[in-house]
Amino acid sequence: MPKVTINGKEIEVPAGTNLIEAARAAGVEVPHYCYHPGLSIAGQCRLCMVDIDKVPRPQIACNTQVADGMVVETETPRVKDTRRSMMEFHLINHPLDCPVCDQAGECWLQIYYMKHGLYDPRMTDEKVHKPKAVPLGPHVMLDAERCILCSRCVRFCDEITGTGELGIFQRGDHSEIGLFPGTALENLYSGNVIDICPVGALTDRDFRFQVRVWYLDTTRSLCNGCARGCNVEIHTNRERMHHNQGKRVARSSRATTPRSTSGGSATWAATASGGSTTTVG
Ligand code: SF4
Ligand code: FES
Repeated sequence: MPKVTINGKEIEVPAGTNLIEAARAAGVEVPHYCYHPGLSIAGQCRLCMVDIDKVPRPQIACNTQVADGMVVETETPRVKDTRRSMMEFHLINHPLDCPVCDQAGECWLQIYYMKHGLYDPRMTDEKVHKPKAVPLGPHVMLDAERCILCSRCVRFCDEITGTGELGIFQRGDHSEIGLFPGTALENLYSGNVIDICPVGALTDRDFRFQVRVWYLDTTRSLCNGCARGCNVEIHTNRERMHHNQGKRVARSSRATTPRSTSGGSATWAATASGGSTTTVG
C-alpha cells in the first residue's frame, strides 16, 4: 500500500484513495462541499485545495489519488489563502438571511466561513437574485439563492436513483439547479437530496418533517420496507421522543419509505443503494 505523509504524519492507505479520505485517515479534515464518498467526483467547489510537494500549484484533494512517497500539506499560507478566496467566491451572491434560514446556523457555509473564510467582503454591487421556494416535486423545495452549485443533488439523481431529473441551467452567476422539461423530482428517494445538500438549499415541503439530520440522534438499523434489508440510519429527535413518551402517541407510517416515522419522530436519512447508508459531509 502507498505511504503518504500528510501534515508531517506518515500513513499507509490503499492505492486509489483520494487525498480527502487519506487526510481523514490521518485525522486531518480537508474542507469540501461537492465531494461525497457515495458519488462520482465533480471537482466543482474547489475548496479542497492542498499543497503537494514538487507540484507548483495547489491541487484539489478530492480528485488526487495518493502515490507512494507523496508529501501533502493542508494548512500552508497559500492553501489557506486559496480557501479564503473560494469561500468569498461561493458567498458572493449568497443572501444574508441566516436568521430566518431553516438551517438555523447548522450550515457548512457558516462553519467553513468561520474556520477558513473570515475575509472582509468586497462585494459592492447588487447581488444576483435567484428564485426562492421553488417546488421541485411533492417533497422537495429549492431555494436557488442558497445553492452553491456543488451538483451533489444532480449526481445523486443521475447515479443513485438513475432518474436524472435535475441539471444545472444557465451560465456564470445566473447558473441554477432546475428540472429538465416535463420532469418532477418525485423518485422514491427524492427526499434524500435534502440531506445530501451541504448548505440546505433543498428543504422538505412538508414542514411537519422539517427536522434535519444534523439535529438528531442516530441509530443504525435495517429497513423493513422490502425483503432486501438495506442498512439504514434512523435519526431521532430526542426532545420530541421525551415529549411523546408519556402520551404513547402512535404515529402512522407514511407512504414512502425515505420519510417514514417510528418510535416518536424519526426520519430515514438516506438509503442509497446496495445496502449502504449515505451520510452528509
Ligand atoms: S441544491 Fe444543494 S446539493 Fe444541489 S447543487 Fe445546490 S448546494 Fe449542491
Ligand atoms: S470537494 Fe474537491 S473540488 Fe469540491
